Amino acid sequence: MIRDIHLICFRNHLSFKAELNSELVVISGENGVGKTNILEAISLFAPGRSFRNCKFDEIINNQEVGCNEWGVHITFQDVKFSTGYYPNSLRRIKKDGEHLKSQTDILKDIKVLWLLPQMENIFLGPASSRRKFFDRICYNLFPEHAKNIVRYEYYLKSRFKLLQNEYMDPVWIESIEENLAQFTILIQENRERTLGILKEQIKNISSKFLKPDIELVNLIKPLDKEFILTSFNQFRVLDKKSGRSNFGVHKTDLSVVNLSKGQKAEFCSTGEQKALLTSFLLAQASAIKTINGIAPLMLMDEILAYFDPVKQVDVIKELRNLSAQIWITTTKSKNDFFKFLDSIRCLWLDL
Ligand SMILES: Nc1ncnc2c1ncn2[C@@H]1O[C@H](COP(=O)(O)OP(=O)(O)OP(=O)(O)O)[C@@H](O)[C@H]1O
Ligand SMILES: [Mg+2]
Repeated sequence: MIRDIHLICFRNHLSFKAELNSELVVISGENGVGKTNILEAISLFAPGRSFRNCKFDEIINNQEVGCNEWGVHITFQDVKFSTGYYPNSLRRIKKDGEHLKSQTDILKDIKVLWLLPQMENIFLGPASSRRKFFDRICYNLFPEHAKNIVRYEYYLKSRFKLLQNEYMDPVWIESIEENLAQFTILIQENRERTLGILKEQIKNISSKFLKPDIELVNLIKPLDKEFILTSFNQFRVLDKKSGRSNFGVHKTDLSVVNLSKGQKAEFCSTGEQKALLTSFLLAQASAIKTINGIAPLMLMDEILAYFDPVKQVDVIKELRNLSAQIWITTTKSKNDFFKFLDSIRCLWLDL
């Protein structure tokens, strides 16, 4: 767990320091005080951009003169980690004062999971956002998955460009499709493995409303190299004509059903959809603990919103059952928060 945190020139926080000795941290305050910004700072202890997916320059406090860079320092377990950025530099992560060789190395020590209000309509949006959501779960369990996706997308783009050319070198396209077939198999295998693990972990969730039935759809079957190569070959004409790639693991989607009502996620209410999404996070956190032996950091922005009082209690209890440090933001006052959750111990941060 994070034992202390220090943000410098990070969005509205010129200097924010807190000592934390709790597995449940609740950040409370009115709109705009900087609750989500604190979670965003923690999300930077994962590879890539922050969970807001913005440019690093945008994070530097833009209100005070003299803020030319931002920094985040944490003590995780007993080790000091930091990350920071100044314009035209690379965002680097340090462990014990030493730069990590690659940002993905952080996954060996820290796994950060998040649930944000903007993810709540994932079941209504395009398949690509569900796939990205699922792939993030996948690479938190199998770090090589992230690289496989990048390579696959690179070859898919190269094949597409080649198909648009008047003259298409047959040897060149064959070699691209060979690579695509190789990554297709690796990607789908990891996704199916992740699905199996999540299904298993969902069984351990006790609240009925948090138990979805999940499946991957549009899978490549059979997952066989010859079949994949033949399919890519056969799709060349259609792909050229339609201007898109019609075959591959980039077509996979996630289907989720609310088991308590037998209803597909996209037809569920806002609160029900949020519950389904929360169950992914719960299942993922226990899988990470079991497989990687790491207690993850869970950033749950406005987790209580849309849940009725009974579900609010259930969700917090399920989260507390995990071996994880849970970060919750809320606009509720301490009195309102504890109206239903009186036996829950937490560290309360009033902003
Ligand atoms: N680069 C920046 N420099 C200074 N302030 C910023 C920067 N980026 C965002 N802010 C400000 O940070 C403030 C806090 O944002 P944040 O999203 O953390 O609020 P919040 O407490 O989560 O509010 P809500 O309850 O509405 O979700 C906002 O008023 C926003 O304008
Ligand atoms: Mg917020």
